[in-house]
Amino acid sequence: METLESQPVTDNLSRSAIFLVATLNEGAQSVQATRALCADLAGIVRAVGFRDLDGGLSCVVGVGSEAWDRLFGAPRPRELHPFREIHGVHQAIATPGDLLFHIRAARMDLCFELATEIMVRLGAAATVVDETHGFQYFDDRDLLGFVDGTENPVGQARRDAAILGDEDPAFAGGSYVIVQKYLHDMAGWNALPVERQEGIIGRKKLSDIELDDAVKPSHAHNALTTIYDENGEPLEILRDNMPFGDVGKGEFGTYFIGYTRSPGRIERMLENMFVGNPPGNYDRILDFSRAVTGTLFFVPTATFLENAPQGAAAEADPSTVPRRAPAPPADGSLGIGSLKSED
Ligand code: HEM
Repeated sequence: METLESQPVTDNLSRSAIFLVATLNEGAQSVQATRALCADLAGIVRAVGFRDLDGGLSCVVGVGSEAWDRLFGAPRPRELHPFREIHGVHQAIATPGDLLFHIRAARMDLCFELATEIMVRLGAAATVVDETHGFQYFDDRDLLGFVDGTENPVGQARRDAAILGDEDPAFAGGSYVIVQKYLHDMAGWNALPVERQEGIIGRKKLSDIELDDAVKPSHAHNALTTIYDENGEPLEILRDNMPFGDVGKGEFGTYFIGYTRSPGRIERMLENMFVGNPPGNYDRILDFSRAVTGTLFFVPTATFLENAPQGAAAEADPSTVPRRAPAPPADGSLGIGSLKSED
């Protein structure tokens, strides 16, 4: 049997990231161009990444529920569905998104170059509905000032948390991913005494040490997001949150991205956060953080992408779209920014 290679879901936190969420445009050409990109993506990442091997460039592609049918048809990943809104004490809204590109590297220029190449390939096939540039902030802190990512699983446990096994054999090696973009009320948050902030997160702010159970509130973020199965085993997910912002606009945020072998895990955590556990005992981070997006994607294996069907589905007409990228600019420049000659 062929070995299925996963996409680089379990890669470590990076210094830089770009999160691109796009919707697929109408028509067979859009389907064809996207399938062609899927098949060629590994090569494009290799080409951009080779320019600085220490940069550790990687890209994970996710596909939304409706787009899956248009792009790949049957079979479908069993648990793929649109993001389910939650209307609790606070609101977790669903927003459009057919494709997710989670681009990570040690340097933003690598991320930017790859995002550019991806968009050149997609051309008129897709419309970017959200583009967020994330950066590492001091010792992996979020903009609320707390270290974010500490309790992520490590080693084999990363795979166990995020990568599908036998539960859906046709999609073993894949993953589900939920993204939500949160905007913080920094003035409100910073007006809280540090001890209150620590109770909300469930960890010490400076040292990042977890609060003792005797003092940790039951609504602490890390209490509400720690969940168990029926045998008392923890159900983990893999997070790669990134701060982002725009100081001029007063925008300060956390881009939440969680990979999981079953979306039900993240949905339970969200329920606990937004509705509360028990209801009403909700996550106070949300008094200072508003979720402005919410989308669920499936991440097929790299093997699946490379062998993406090129024209089999009813919608597509393989003769209409070229498989290769457009030719480089005739002026011999890289075709980007100030390097492009202005004649
Ligand atoms: C405003 C958005 C968010 C911020 C600022 C945030 C921040 C944090 C911080 C500071 C920690 C403690 C350090 C760590 O273990 O990483 C943490 C833990 C965690 N968060 Fe979040 N988080 C956010 C949203 C979410 C969401 C939406 C989920 C899932 C639905 C989630 C799931 C988790 C989990 C599972 C842990 C680890 C709990 C543990 O095992 O101790 N977070 N988060």
